[in-house]
Amino acid sequence: MLLLTDSKFPDARTSIFTAMTQLAHEYDAINLSQGFPDFEPAAELIERVTYYLKSGKNQYPLMSGVLELRQAITNQLARDGINSDPETEITITSGATEALFCAIQAVVYPSDEVVIFDPGYDCYAPAVELAGGRVIRLALTLPHYQIDFDALAAVLSEKTRLVIINSPHNPTGSLITHEHLDQLAHVIRDYDCYVLSDEVYERITFDNAPHASVLAHPQLAARSFAVFSFGKTYHVTGWKVGYCVAPPELTAEIRKIHQFNTFTTVTPMQWALADFICEQPGYGAQLSSFYEQKRDHFRALMAASRFNLLPCHGTYFQLADYRDLPPDLSDMDDMEFARWLTIEKGVAVIPLSPFYKDPPDARIVRFCFAKQDETLEQAAEILCEI
Ligand SMILES: Cc1ncc(COP(=O)(O)O)c(C=O)c1O
Repeated sequence: MLLLTDSKFPDARTSIFTAMTQLAHEYDAINLSQGFPDFEPAAELIERVTYYLKSGKNQYPLMSGVLELRQAITNQLARDGINSDPETEITITSGATEALFCAIQAVVYPSDEVVIFDPGYDCYAPAVELAGGRVIRLALTLPHYQIDFDALAAVLSEKTRLVIINSPHNPTGSLITHEHLDQLAHVIRDYDCYVLSDEVYERITFDNAPHASVLAHPQLAARSFAVFSFGKTYHVTGWKVGYCVAPPELTAEIRKIHQFNTFTTVTPMQWALADFICEQPGYGAQLSSFYEQKRDHFRALMAASRFNLLPCHGTYFQLADYRDLPPDLSDMDDMEFARWLTIEKGVAVIPLSPFYKDPPDARIVRFCFAKQDETLEQAAEILCEI
């Protein structure tokens, strides 16, 4: 009998998002941990899914995705001044996660180096390691969690295959600007490396800050995979439908992986999204103000608390420093504090340290404010009493 003696993934454990949501269920806590809305998507979108479920759109779609949806994405990008070809440059995937995974598998060879930034979303490094690549981690600089382009220039070499960026940024809510993209294009100009740009919160930027996409930056667009998620934009995280936009040569490579990974993505949702995007072209433009109101409401409610809220320029996450809480609490590390808050106070949050390989000794947790106002009010009432 064959025995699996060595795990391919000895260090992998349950993600902090799953762990905290489970704990929230166990203790019936208000769940401000995992990033999903506690409100419904647009009724028209649900109606469209129901319609397509009942009208026979239940079999495999094209491997690259329903063409009508890819065309709707192309039309939407055109409204933002970005040209794309739905046939050769857009691939629908099972969530942004699958697009990220496929892009990494498509270009990373064993021993290639991939630069990622800490703190950062948790699915990049495991995908690089599965491809046999080596992860090079750089710290985002405090206090604004920005890329240090000198530090990036210092680690680039002929071994660098990929640089992974994320804006609007989970978990810090920081943004990459057009000027930052110029700097990125400049530092990587002499290297044979690609950019994987995780833009799943593209429609959630605040205070009139524009989203700077690699797709709008010609030098970067030529060597980038840009990844998006309908889950975030349309309040349907459970549908797991996302997409990747990349030049034809890169799209051809990502599709080779997608084809043998999931092959296709859920059919009726793709048709429904295609209709909804065409019928409501202004939807995305309202999303920033919708979440900006939630951010402002939550921050105003929390002003009376002893948590210090960090700036939040985008996403639906708010970081909070709890160093000013009484010593028995501020002495706890963030993992311990997040558990305590969930179990003893009934508010579940995400500690910041799992977003790092080597976390600093900080006292910061992440709140998700993609919640109904009443949920935020109930949570803030408890948090203000601590
Ligand atoms: C930065 C970032 N990238 C990717 C994803 C995954 O998106 P999806 O659910 O569409 O796979 C998330 C989800 O939380 C995220 O925050």
